[in-house]
Amino acid sequence: MNQRKILVTAALPYANGPIHLGHLVEYIQTDIWVRFQKLRGHNCLFMWADDTHGTAIMIRARKEGRSEEEVIAEANAEHQRDFAGFQIQYDNYGSTHSDENKKLCGEVWQSIRDSGLVKEKDVDQLFDTEQGTFLADRFVRGTCPECNAEDQPGDNCSKCGTTYSPAELINPVSTLSGSTPEIRTAKHLFIELEQLHEFLEEWTQSGDHLQPEVANYLRGHFLGDPQSTEGAKPLRDWDISRPAPYFGFEIPDCPGNYWYVWFDAPIGYIASTQQWCERNGDTLDNWWKNDAAEIHHFIGKDITYFHTLFWPGMLKSAGYSLPTKVHIHGFLTVNGEKMSKSVGTAFKANTYLDHLPPAALRYYYASKLGSRLDDIDLNFDEFISKVNSDLVGKVVNLASRSAKFVKDTGLSANYPDDGGLFESAAKAGDEIAKAYENCDYNKAMRLILELADKANPFVENAEPWNLRKDPAKAQELQDVCTVALNLFRQLVIYLSPVLPDLAEKTGELLNDPLIHWDQSQTPLTGNPVSKFKHMMKRIEEKDVRAMEEASKIEAEQEAAQTENNSEQFADSEQPMIDEPMTDECTIEDFMKVDLRVARIVNAEHVEGARKLLKLTLSLGGDHRKQVFAGIKAAYEPDQLVGRLVVMVANLKPRQMKFGLSEGMVCASGPGGEEVFLLTPDEGAKPGQRVH
Ligand code: 2FM
Ligand code: ZN
Repeated sequence: MNQRKILVTAALPYANGPIHLGHLVEYIQTDIWVRFQKLRGHNCLFMWADDTHGTAIMIRARKEGRSEEEVIAEANAEHQRDFAGFQIQYDNYGSTHSDENKKLCGEVWQSIRDSGLVKEKDVDQLFDTEQGTFLADRFVRGTCPECNAEDQPGDNCSKCGTTYSPAELINPVSTLSGSTPEIRTAKHLFIELEQLHEFLEEWTQSGDHLQPEVANYLRGHFLGDPQSTEGAKPLRDWDISRPAPYFGFEIPDCPGNYWYVWFDAPIGYIASTQQWCERNGDTLDNWWKNDAAEIHHFIGKDITYFHTLFWPGMLKSAGYSLPTKVHIHGFLTVNGEKMSKSVGTAFKANTYLDHLPPAALRYYYASKLGSRLDDIDLNFDEFISKVNSDLVGKVVNLASRSAKFVKDTGLSANYPDDGGLFESAAKAGDEIAKAYENCDYNKAMRLILELADKANPFVENAEPWNLRKDPAKAQELQDVCTVALNLFRQLVIYLSPVLPDLAEKTGELLNDPLIHWDQSQTPLTGNPVSKFKHMMKRIEEKDVRAMEEASKIEAEQEAAQTENNSEQFADSEQPMIDEPMTDECTIEDFMKVDLRVARIVNAEHVEGARKLLKLTLSLGGDHRKQVFAGIKAAYEPDQLVGRLVVMVANLKPRQMKFGLSEGMVCASGPGGEEVFLLTPDEGAKPGQRVH
């Protein structure tokens, strides 16, 4: 057999949110394809990572009072926990916020610059004055400038797929504050994609890189039909930089500006491969600059433009291989409706796993996924009946009704006459494999279940449970069970990309691990049979309902939390802009300032002073300090007497017009009425040092 070298990726999950069942359509689809290729003996790698950059993560970190690194480390651990729970296996899981990615981004960028594709333009960008930040992509919603669809995100339209800049949206609204953002001008860098028009037309329209409907869609919407008299539309320039503040990689030759997250995200595929190569003594060029290596991307239809126009353009300019195929799937709906966080139908992976087995969802998705871009619907009634009737009723049943009768004898030494069942099922292997290869899992599952439908009558007619009552029929019993278990094993090999757990248990039952597709072509004989252990449980409706209920409760809790958080934590950046951070100081510098808790024991107006109040501060015992503080417009003396403040106690005394000032009280705010004294929490005592 010709061993293929295949590198596979799935879209990189954003690090600012949990994995839900919508994501899992793609991840399970990818995992099945990778497992299938490995089972066929190919050298197949699944390279994956978290997508960590962008405004969303930055805003979230800000709201939670954590660093972006903390947020993405937590997401990484949670994502990998969920993937393990769903038996999704990858060869490397990286992060786009890695040294490898930064270096590769720099190299790709340089090549793109050298190709003369980058130009600089002033951009009108939306700025949220309440939040003090430029609003990128996902923080603006408005009407699509191309097709007028309402409530679209700031980077691309979910209806017509056009990409645009947020400032082009009609009636934009900031999702951070709900305010109407204002337009501010900033310098941005652009990639002139139009220079690659001819190449992209050729690449998308020839070969088998894209599903036919995707190639047609790109031609119709973006590339233009070369046959048409109207000629092709020019491709829009791609806005590739974002000014600070932005969480990402700073562009080396454009300080203060960062690569837009969609530039460094797909390069993350290569960076993840780099990490794998370093661990396994391989080279990147072996995978990304080698005509003998295939590259397959699995993505959802919402990110088609990025993967079929921008990404091939970047790869081409940087001298990497182009994708062999971009496999694009549709969205997940739940009971025919769009998934909704607020209604609680955006079921989290983790919530599902608290109540239901991963194999059930893997099989259900496989049975729904075809090679086209149609949306797939998650209908729980269908889910329950499919899993129970197909897997438990038709597949596992073959083993549960026969294995126990050959526990002591093992399988027959020679494969008995089964009326041609095994042989015809072996022949079906090629068609099943072809369906897997084409991502037509729905067809693969159908073909496998047809085989199960032929195997079951054999067991029903042979009635091993009756044969075992008659000692004279011991050989017949062993033969019948040998056939039943072989037909079962054959089905499980075909199903093993979808149901790895069942494959493992079957290997243990028959003392022969299932590791290669070709094992489906030869019956197993003479092997001992282990004690039959439970292989798959029926799905109970009550578990599904409990999962739905748990998800609803989570949604309600999150909504309440978001409301609280947005009231408490949606802080404007204006103070930091008005008064930027000063230079770094050392701990020694800081320790020179002796901050103390002090009690205001007297406060009075000062004749002739417009801004000052005279305060007498007690540091406990007889320690008193007199301080003139510029807080007259903000506080009445009466309000102050008795309260605790923080003071700079070792400030060199200063002779002022109205008397000696022996320190400072700590306060924030721009001045005038907006001055806010710092107060220690209850329990602090005058004289205590503030560290
Ligand atoms: O749409 C998304 O969820 C993105 N995080 C996918 C990135 S895929 C790749 F380009 F990194
Ligand atoms: Zn549109």
